[in-house]
Amino acid sequence: MRSGLLVLAAADIVRSLPQTVSEKPDNLDRRLMNGLGKTPALGWNSWNQGGCEAATAVVALNTASAFINLGLRDVGYTYINIDDCWSTTSRNSSGYLVPDPNKFPQGIKALTDQIHSMGLKFGLYGDAGTMTCAGHPGSQGYEVQDAKLLASWGVDYWKHDNCYTPCNAGLQQTCTNPAGSSQTWYIKMRDALLSSGRPIFYSLCNWGRDNVWTWGADVGNSWRMSIDNWGNWADVVRIASEAAPIASYSAAYGFNDLDMMIIGNGRLTTAEERTHFGIWAISKSPIIMGTDLTKLTTERLNLIKNRALLAINQDSLGKAATTFRPSGAASPVSGQLYPYWAGPLSDGVVVGLVAPDGAQTLSVNFADVPGLGAGTFAWTELYSGHTGSGISVSANLNAHDMAVFKVVRIASG
Ligand code: GLA
Repeated sequence: MRSGLLVLAAADIVRSLPQTVSEKPDNLDRRLMNGLGKTPALGWNSWNQGGCEAATAVVALNTASAFINLGLRDVGYTYINIDDCWSTTSRNSSGYLVPDPNKFPQGIKALTDQIHSMGLKFGLYGDAGTMTCAGHPGSQGYEVQDAKLLASWGVDYWKHDNCYTPCNAGLQQTCTNPAGSSQTWYIKMRDALLSSGRPIFYSLCNWGRDNVWTWGADVGNSWRMSIDNWGNWADVVRIASEAAPIASYSAAYGFNDLDMMIIGNGRLTTAEERTHFGIWAISKSPIIMGTDLTKLTTERLNLIKNRALLAINQDSLGKAATTFRPSGAASPVSGQLYPYWAGPLSDGVVVGLVAPDGAQTLSVNFADVPGLGAGTFAWTELYSGHTGSGISVSANLNAHDMAVFKVVRIASG
């Protein structure tokens, strides 16, 4: 039974004709009607942690235990997602996907049952083409059968990748001249999941192809808007810069997905990890951890458990922050990290200040911030807990560091 539907308001369950670019991007009538993902997904995924090798029941269960023991479940992390390489390399004689018996000796159903009994949810990965990116069977032509199988296993989340899809020319794996729009094949799986008998969170992974943000909300609960977060600071910068101009397409039930986190992979400084987490949080991206959580330092654990930042990410308004240009500041440059970010909240405004190059003191007048204006405001910096009030705020930042302020009006100007 799709019980999730019963609690939705009428506006949420009316899905009208496919969206066109000219229409208002945050029209809630056009959100996917599966009742899931009102706020961005919080969880973990095996891929950035260990690629194919991390796609095992043991790793999934260790991570689920870590969610509980480290207090991650208590702050909202819910999804344990296994990515590519969980299945054998061919379907069985009845056309079904088969869990790799070496990695999932009890099968998937036993694993989902166990994860559900821990108060968590379980996600799996597949592909819209003939094969996944790592060469395991894809769902092309098997959408209905696969969706029913996932439902029978109790799977809660499905990430649908875009490798080996219909291609005119170019590398089959990540075809640069596709035969058609990826919207066509993503809709097929949407419809299969919707009629599978189970509400399944649908995570689109077409790497931002075909301007997915303009139609993603009608098809999935979240959509990857860029190529992968390969694990370096340069990737954080690239993705943040691409996310800012399309921020307005995120709203309740459908969000730009900035890709999985790389906190704890050893390639970012502490400051860079703060900025990575901060921008993903205020951009209303899913926050899907991608490293071995049992090995996180206390400092990193505290970062990803920052309740104030998570509350911004999970704010019921669901509007993503974007860049704004204070008077006198230079314009944003494509591909570079811009220092000034802001976005509306149900109970205030979030303001982010980022030092893109060296150490820097950044200040902003609240009069320059969209959604604020003249008046006096109270602010809280969400990493340090520092508070203050006035008509402006400033931050002394290390190179690549970020301060995030929640700002609330206390007197009119
Ligand atoms: C693509 C996706 C990644 C990951 C890999 C798995 O590159 O974008 O997130 O799922 O495939 O092969």
